[in-house]
Amino acid sequence: MRAFVSRHLPGDALSRLPSDVQAVVWPGDGPPPYDTLAREAAASDGLLCLLTDRVDDALLGAAPRLRVVSQMAVGVDNIDLHAATARGIPVGHTPGVLAETTADLAWALVLAASRRITEAERFVRAGRWTTWGPELLCGVDVHGGTLGVVGMGAIGRAVARRAKGFDMSVVYASPTTRDVDDATATALDDLLAVADVVSLHCALTPATRSLIGARELALMKPTAVLVNAARGGVVDEAALVQALRAGRLFAAGLDVYATEPLPARSPLLELPNVVLTPHIGSASLATRARMARMAVDNLVAGLRGRPLPHCANPAVLA
Ligand code: DGY
Repeated sequence: MRAFVSRHLPGDALSRLPSDVQAVVWPGDGPPPYDTLAREAAASDGLLCLLTDRVDDALLGAAPRLRVVSQMAVGVDNIDLHAATARGIPVGHTPGVLAETTADLAWALVLAASRRITEAERFVRAGRWTTWGPELLCGVDVHGGTLGVVGMGAIGRAVARRAKGFDMSVVYASPTTRDVDDATATALDDLLAVADVVSLHCALTPATRSLIGARELALMKPTAVLVNAARGGVVDEAALVQALRAGRLFAAGLDVYATEPLPARSPLLELPNVVLTPHIGSASLATRARMARMAVDNLVAGLRGRPLPHCANPAVLA
């Protein structure tokens, strides 16, 4: 059997492949062009891909051999799940394993945006620090405030749990999750109105695309901080730029963007009150190695015709 792997994987993940599976690994540092991906998928029994690969209906339709798509990420918005399900192709993903690491990154953004850490660092490096000043680079307090978590899955819960250490109360808006210890479920609009920190952890779906737009940003406190470590499409980026520029929001911490990599002309790059990281939520050495192993295990299960350990489209079994 042949499996196309769309990027070099961390650690020894590929050593888990059985001897009858030949892995063809894309040698580039970036994603394969769409046409190459489609051609390789069409020649393969399995595809191990990343969130930078577009796996759409046309690609799946032209790949009749394909028995499994396994993504090394929890989010699968780059894959047409309906098309995969309709063709009987299970789609693997990597939930759970990256929740704590991504929650750590979300908190790094909360603290950096609230306390102007990256702005302060730029200030020091630029040689502008001449004296201690009573008003120099003052931010907003994190401790004692209210954290609003949007999307209370594994990552949202891990983020909420960390709020205890900051004596914060937690409210959350989530269509699926009920009872969460020490956190109060609330409607999104109410969350936006009361939260000092709003942290986004929902999947990108048609229902959550542009969930946070101009109207929602206007509901937030002018002293509030918005953190997005979910998907860029959850936020209307143009509206966010306007709100940050006008000081209608204190700051934002972003790990994800409408277009990735962030275009060199993005107005976000001009704003001092936004902390920008390059989609590194799950990027610890240990977590990325675990994700790669999970992705390989999903791939092998699919190639063998067994249920995937972590399947993003369980309806395919029906
Ligand atoms: C995911 O898994 O969906 C993240 O965005 C990358 O780890």
